[in-house]
Amino acid sequence: MDNLISLEEVDSTNNYLKAHCELSDGTAVTARVQTAGKGRRGHSWADNGGMLPLSILLKDPPECETLTARVGLAVCAAIAEMYEIPPDIGIKWPNDVIISSHKVCGILCESMRFGASTAVICGIGINISQDENYFRDAGLPNAGSLLTLTGFAPERGSLLEAVVREVRNRAAKPFADCLDEYKRKLLNLGKSVKILGADGERAAEAVDVAPNGYLICRGENGIFEVGSGEVSVRGLNGYI
Ligand code: BTN
Repeated sequence: MDNLISLEEVDSTNNYLKAHCELSDGTAVTARVQTAGKGRRGHSWADNGGMLPLSILLKDPPECETLTARVGLAVCAAIAEMYEIPPDIGIKWPNDVIISSHKVCGILCESMRFGASTAVICGIGINISQDENYFRDAGLPNAGSLLTLTGFAPERGSLLEAVVREVRNRAAKPFADCLDEYKRKLLNLGKSVKILGADGERAAEAVDVAPNGYLICRGENGIFEVGSGEVSVRGLNGYI
């Protein structure tokens, strides 16, 4: 595959691309082991070798705001390609990839100015082959791997290539072309949710997705929209 850097070990594939944002548009970096992976909202992202860390550098991608949702769809499509009978794969807004109510992939998109342009680094961590003990011992009851959730761990290289291809394709496509697909996959729609933000928690119902990827909610004071940078969403009585 073109423009793919494979490292033995790295602190964070996102950090690697941040330090090398002169690389060309679409460059992907992966590592056999990631030692200091970063998650959304300041969390860490653990790896015992069973997780596939991957970051893709995009230069001045159109519609930055919706990129994170499009990357979620790309991961869903790539995982589905690995199976003769694909599992039911959904998205927890904005882009957690979910199988059987468990998070199998997290996505962290970070953007930075690079001269006159914007570089966006799409970081993707897919749990491929960790076992149930791993998630129990790590205190991650809502997480799982493709192995624990489908009984099959796809080959790392094939999954990696499929994800990079799908992300590069979808980064070039308008969100309007995949908004319906995104809504069909979104597990939160029509559900009661808790919006967890810097200023606390608020209850609402997730009712729709705006053309800019924001989640449209109905709360006690009416309709409002939330963007992925600000908040995390949970089900009222559980994870989804
Ligand atoms: C989340 O919190 O759900 C996002 C997790 C993103 C993890 C991936 S692993 C590859 C890339 N490098 C990082 O440091 N983080 C992302």
